[in-house]
Amino acid sequence: MSLLEIKQLKIMFAGGGGKLLRAVENADLSIEAGESVALVGESGCGKSVTGFSIMRLLKTPPAIVRADRLTFDGADILTLPEPDMQAIRGRDIGMIFQEPSSALNPVMTVGKQVDEVFLRHRGLKQKEAREATVALFRDIGISAPERRYHQYPHELSGGMKQRILIATATACRPKLLIADEPTTALDVTIQAQILELLRELREKNKMSMLLITHDLGVVAHNAERVHVMYCGKIVETGRTAEVLTDPLHPYTKGLLRAVPRLGEKRDRFEQIPLSVPHPSAKPEGCYFHPRCSEACEACKKHMPPLMPVGKDGARAVRCWRSG
Ligand SMILES: Nc1ncnc2c1ncn2[C@@H]1O[C@H](COP(=O)(O)OP(=O)(O)OP(=O)(O)O)[C@@H](O)[C@H]1O
Ligand SMILES: [Mg+2]
Repeated sequence: MSLLEIKQLKIMFAGGGGKLLRAVENADLSIEAGESVALVGESGCGKSVTGFSIMRLLKTPPAIVRADRLTFDGADILTLPEPDMQAIRGRDIGMIFQEPSSALNPVMTVGKQVDEVFLRHRGLKQKEAREATVALFRDIGISAPERRYHQYPHELSGGMKQRILIATATACRPKLLIADEPTTALDVTIQAQILELLRELREKNKMSMLLITHDLGVVAHNAERVHVMYCGKIVETGRTAEVLTDPLHPYTKGLLRAVPRLGEKRDRFEQIPLSVPHPSAKPEGCYFHPRCSEACEACKKHMPPLMPVGKDGARAVRCWRSG
């Protein structure tokens, strides 16, 4: 049994005029113990809502979440009583939220915010929690941890705030960390440091990770497998090395061409034409066809299934042209 098993996940929102907006459509995703899996796609593809559904953080209504299977460590996330879910959240599954500034409380010192995790999930006394927080800050490379403890979020740099959020999310050594765009808001050098920290934590705590990103460039050394999502559908999946060296779906190829490479001139990055349609305006056939240079007649009419490639079951692609 995998640590996380998702089969046929559907996430919908009640839209205007009684219409249902389908944000995620029949997505399968599994993560083994200790494994890191990336979920990649442009803005609006359904990455964050997928992460929220694992934490059961989507408000229902307006959201409707359905799945044939959504289990974490054997527990059924869809039906688990709320007190049990609260115990899992933050203790067994940690999440780094996409917006670092809104994820921290501006009127509380960062030390106290991390203390809360220890108070809630570990039953420590205030003084013990404070010691644990300072030790944790030191562990994850926060300089002058005693002084940092008493600082407010606005006194910290973006990279330091992200370290605090990583500390909060991993304080209880969760089995799974959901990292939603953990480096997007940061400078390139700080990005590298944060990714290195996540690698260290994964190794030390034998932690699994769901790495959510729009940037295929950060996937290479940080995930063993990758799922590419477009308009709420998984369009390609496979081992990272294979997907990056031999992308099969035109969307994956487009995302790769948009990744800046060392030594390349800026004007050579190619962007995929047009943008991701809103869930209320998905085209007929393959959702990607209006943006695809390889599209044929079948692509305009029929949604391709996710077709396995090779025999080991790790690789699959949803494309009429690369079947
Ligand atoms: N509460 C909500 N009500 C209605 N629609 C929503 C809600 N939350 C998300 N959506 C829609 O679901 C779709 C997927 O959103 P999501 O935030 O998962 O995208 P994302 O892939 O994380 O994008 P980004 O890279 O911008 O973070 C979007 O079209 C979004 O507008
Ligand atoms: Mg998002």
